[in-house]
Parts: sequence; C-alpha cells; structure tokens
Amino acid sequence: MTPEEKVGQMLQLDARDDLADHVLRRQAGSILHASPERVRAAHELTDRTRLRIPLLVAEDCIHGHSFFEGATIFPTQLGMAATWDPGLVERVARVTAVEVSATGIHWTFSPVLCIARDLRWGRVNETFGEDPHLIGELASAAVRGYQGDGLTDPTAILAAAKHFAGYSETQGGRDASEADLSRRKLRAWHLPPFERVAREGCRTFMLGYQTIDGVPITVNDWLLSDVLRGEWGYTGTLVTDWDNVGRMVWEQKVQPDLTAAATAAVRAGNDMVMTTPGFFEGALAAIEEGHLMPADLDEAVRRILTLKFELGLFEDRRRPAPERIEAVVGAAEHTALNLEVARRSLVLLRNDGTLPLPTGTTTADTPTRETAGGNAPARRIAVVGPLADDAQGQLGDWAGNSGQAGWIPDGHPRHLISTVLDGLRSETPDDWEVTYARGAEILELAPDPEGDTFPDGQPRPPVVTPAPVDEAQLAEAVAAARDADYVVAVVGDHIELIGEGRSTATLELLGGQRALLEAVAATGTPLIVVLLASKPQVLPPVVDEAAALVWAANPGMRGGQALAELLLGEIEPSGRLPISFARHVGQQPTYYNQVRGQHGDRYADLTQRPAYAFGEGLGYTTTEYDGLRVAEPRVRADGVVRATVTVRNTGPRPALETVQVYVSDLVTSASWADQELKAFRQVTVAPGEETVVDLELAAADCTIVDAAGARVVEPGDFELRVGRSSRREDQLSARFTVVG
Ligand code: IFM
Repeated sequence: MTPEEKVGQMLQLDARDDLADHVLRRQAGSILHASPERVRAAHELTDRTRLRIPLLVAEDCIHGHSFFEGATIFPTQLGMAATWDPGLVERVARVTAVEVSATGIHWTFSPVLCIARDLRWGRVNETFGEDPHLIGELASAAVRGYQGDGLTDPTAILAAAKHFAGYSETQGGRDASEADLSRRKLRAWHLPPFERVAREGCRTFMLGYQTIDGVPITVNDWLLSDVLRGEWGYTGTLVTDWDNVGRMVWEQKVQPDLTAAATAAVRAGNDMVMTTPGFFEGALAAIEEGHLMPADLDEAVRRILTLKFELGLFEDRRRPAPERIEAVVGAAEHTALNLEVARRSLVLLRNDGTLPLPTGTTTADTPTRETAGGNAPARRIAVVGPLADDAQGQLGDWAGNSGQAGWIPDGHPRHLISTVLDGLRSETPDDWEVTYARGAEILELAPDPEGDTFPDGQPRPPVVTPAPVDEAQLAEAVAAARDADYVVAVVGDHIELIGEGRSTATLELLGGQRALLEAVAATGTPLIVVLLASKPQVLPPVVDEAAALVWAANPGMRGGQALAELLLGEIEPSGRLPISFARHVGQQPTYYNQVRGQHGDRYADLTQRPAYAFGEGLGYTTTEYDGLRVAEPRVRADGVVRATVTVRNTGPRPALETVQVYVSDLVTSASWADQELKAFRQVTVAPGEETVVDLELAAADCTIVDAAGARVVEPGDFELRVGRSSRREDQLSARFTVVG
C-alpha cells in the first residue's frame, strides 16, 4: 500500500460532506453518519479506487437505530439501566444490530461505559448510571448483543466501548473539560467496566475528548499502551472521538499543527481518526519530513483491515438491503421488546396509595364521577405539562431529530410514538375522560449570536433561556385539574438541555413547570408527577407532597403506553434507580459509593443525603427481607462467599424484586467507599409467598485499590449488606472474614 492508501485507511470521515473527496482523494477507510443512499454512493466510489478496499460504515446507534426513519428507538441507556436486567439489555442490543446491519452499517458507537457522577453533565442520559458493577454487567450484555455470535453473522455489528476513560469526571459538569483524575481513581472506579469488556472481546474502543494531567487521551501513552494494550492485552481497534486530533491543535493547543498532531496520534497507537480530514495531509507531511515512517502506520492499518476481513466485507460489502430493511426495521417483535423494556425501566419513587388508579369496581373511598349521573364520565384525568404530548421527549437524545444531528428531517414518524397523553387516551376505560392542557413551556430558544456553526462546521445549538410563566396557559391547566379526579403532570427537561456540549448549570425544572405543579397541586386534586427527564432533576417541595412520582427517563417510542399501563396498575413497577437524585444542585456529586472520610453527613445548610438513592424504587406490592445468613463466615481470598436471604411478598400483587448485594470492607489500608454493589439478582415472588435467594460472591471481588494503585483483597472483616437499595435502612447485614 502507498503511504496515501495507508493514511486513508486510518481516516473516518463524515458522510454528510463531500463523499467523492473523502473516498477518491483522501481514500478514507471509514465513514459515519450515512443514510443508506450515502452508504451506497460511498461504496460505488470505493470501487473506483486502486485497491477497492471496502469501507467500514459507522453510526451512533445507542438506544436503537437512532438515524433511520421508523427504526425502533428504545429507552435511553440510563432508562435501560433502571431495569437492572442484563438479559433485556442484550436483547435490545441484538435487535438494534439486526435493524442497523440491514441499513448497511457495520459499527455502532455504543455502549457508553462512563460513570455518571456529576448530574450537570449533559451526557448522563447516555450512561448506565453511577455504579461500576452495574455498568460492567449491562455494558458486557450490550457488547454481546451487538457482536452476536461472531462477526461473520451478517446481523453482527462492531461494538465500541466509549469513552475511554474518565471522560465523565468533568469540571463543574462541563462536557469535555479536563478530567482531574489520579491513576488510582481511574483504576478504582473508571477503568473496571472497560477492563471487563476489553477482556471479553469488545472489538473497538473509542477515546474520550478529555485531558488527564495535561495529556489528551488521544496521546495518553499510559492509558493506551501500558494499561489497555499492555496489562489487559487488548488487541481491538481504537477510534478517536470527533476531531480529537484536530482539537489538540485548535482547542487544547498542545500541538502546533496537524503534522505534529498526526505524528503524536499515530505514535500513541490510535488506529482510526474520526473526522479530522486534515489528518490525511498532516500524516503525509509527517512522513515526508521524516517524523513518521510509512511502517509506523502498519499496525493501525493491519487492525482496520483485519476487522474488514473478519466482517467479510471484501466478499460482501453488506450494503443496505431494502428487503431486509422492509422485513426488520420497526418489526412487530421489536416494538414488543421496546414496550417490555419501557415497562421495566419506569421507577416509582413516591406513592401515597393513589396509584394504581382504580379501574375496577369503585369503593367508598375511590373518587368517582358516577354519582354525577347522566353521561358524565366515570372518572376524569387531567393530563398537563409541556412533556405530556412531546414525541421528542419520549425519545431523548440520539434519535434522529434530536440535538446531535438532524438528518431525519421530520423526526421519527409521530404515529409510531406513544406519548403519555396517547397512552392514557388509549389505555383508560372507555367511560373515563382524559383532558389535556399543556400548562407551561420549558425553554425559549434563540439563535446563537456567535453564528450557526462552530469553527469545525458543526451546528451550534441555540441559546436557551427558561420560558416565563404564561398565566393563560396556567389557568387552563388549573381549570382542567380542578375539574378532574386526578391530575397527571408530565414535566422534566428538554432536548436542548441534553447531550454532547449541553451540560446544565442547574438541575431544577425550568420555565413554567414549577409554577404549574404548584398551581395544580393547590386545586386539591391528587397530583401524580411523571418525570420525563433525561437525568435526575432537583424536584421542588411540591413534589414531596404529591400523591405519586414516577421517573421515566426518556422511555422510547412505547414509553407513553408503558407509563399509562403503570399508572393504571396493568403492570407492576419494578425499575430501580441506577443513579442518585440530588436535593440541590450544590450537592454534586451525590453518588452512593463515595470514599469515607467526610465529617458527618450534613452541609451546614442541607443534608448531604440524596433525595432518592441509588437502587431505590417502589412497587405496588410490598416486600420484606429476612434472615440474611452467610454460610461460611471465614473464607479464603480465593474462595466464595455464600449467603441466603428470604424475600417475602407482603402485599397484594406479584413482586419483581431486585435483590442488591453490597460489600463493605470495614478497615482498608487506603480510604475507600463505605460500600459497593457487588452483585444483584432479580426474583419474582407471588403475593403472600416467600423465596429464599441464594447469593454468591467471589472473595476475589472484594477488592480495594491500595495507595500504590494495586487492586488487592485485604484480608480482614467485611460486611455483606443485602436489601432493596443502597440506603442503610433498606439493608440487612452480616459479617464475614477474608483470611489471607
Ligand atoms: O460517538 C460520538 C461520541 O460519543 C461523541 N462525539 C461524536 C461521536 C460520533 O458521532
């Protein structure tokens, strides 16, 4: 291969730009963000190049096929995490791979393994939450689902574990800021999920944007060479994030020009360079000037070609296949799975007994309109709130017409999306009436005075300001609430507050939403708050007084139906929080596994405790935990801790219980978290029944990272804490000792 052909293979370029230039002149090895038409055109251009090396086609399909009209859009990764169900996540990834591969895409930039610790960060919705163990379990499942039984399967796509590593450790929640991380902290919290999928065969890794200790990840030798390739023996392919190589010049200013940046990126072991077109000229100049030898590119090119061979692209480009698209995209069984995931993702956080809404025979204490006589509806529900009928709010980010890219001009077809209003209209009994008043706006949008695009040509988001309270809109909602038996208020965040480059300084419900909640609550009609929010919000006091609160994240195309079913008691709430909710933005961070060593548990002016903690979630039934027993209280460091606990269903409905197992290492040589999730199991228990749950845990998993940065089991006393959440009051505990 000529130097040009080698450099070209290392380039991944944006298919929305000049394809002929990308493929014929720069000889790009990969494209991203391509519609099927652009994919076909790109393959035809490739066939005109000397070696006719097939293209790798990539896309961000992170909760379904984000950018194909009519494709299945599942709940966001954070919503899926609330299911705590790796099996379900694997099925979602498999279905996504089936739809994505039909449209000619070979590679998805998913899953995200970042730990969400600062809720202000705009990309919290893309994560599996705040806990490394839960992230590892779900990410591993997603990788299995995408990559299927092996790359020769035409429905298999490459997974990308991203963003390696520490990207979420932001300054003030600001996206892509410096990550102030020690190597010990990386090893303790950020690296374990990545290590797991690296060892399990995730074929590609994407690097983050951030710098650590002054070094952009793109050229971080310690992380890329010593840890990833060296310690973990990773042989997969590394792709940079968007223009990481260019950013070292124009943004981070640690390289004088693209020649130097390309040299550093190649030397650091990057295989594919995303959307820095000038890498082509930069790397060639570096070769010309003797900073790089053509052979320095061989390792990267070999890895990329190997992927193409393993995918079989030299024989079959896996072009978009109209008949497969027709058969699989948005197929009925995919929609059924989507509904199942949405149902499982909903987290009931408060309930004074108002839910489920009584659809059966009325009793003396169920509010009813039947006494009103005539044709009056049996019950009336007032649905209010700016997100009650918002299709984009259902889907969230990376869904066609959302923040990231807008090449599904009209978004996903409206009739495929069930909003909360749609859901309640279709699921409530015929003699109920559902009224609707929007009641408030969230934001006002204005064009950015700095222009429509960033220097690299990417669209610049509009400037957003909270919308003022609209008194007329509010009065309409109040009237609807006053006239109803229940008011369902659907509030949350907004697509312009979610995603890359869209971190928020506040976490409060913006615009007229707080006033809306207060006004409808003041009518005295029982208030059910549905929080359709990409990430935890700080909720106003009126929500603490509400009859019920459900967090739905962005629940996907079938989210509205799932929510209606939950409110009406057709399904049992079973979601559990994968992330803690703060009471105040100033509490950041609120994650449960913070390192011991703070004085007390209060700020001078506020508790440090979160509003809702990791692992929490209610059902309509009640459960009790009892009789936690460790089989062998002394276990060797290479042994297994075995325990049992009894879970009893004390309520009226079948329970789907997530039994959470935390470990507390009672004395550690270096400061460590008071407890860490180490395992979880989901069990179903019939009303009035109990089940004995067997728990197993390798003592080798009861590690800390010591002051020298080594992950070790320190012999001594441990506490096993088992229960329904990370809150101490929800747990039983028993001691065990690890002997050396
Ligand atoms: O995959 C994404 C990444 O997560 C953020 N920057 C852009 C990439 C490609 O779209």
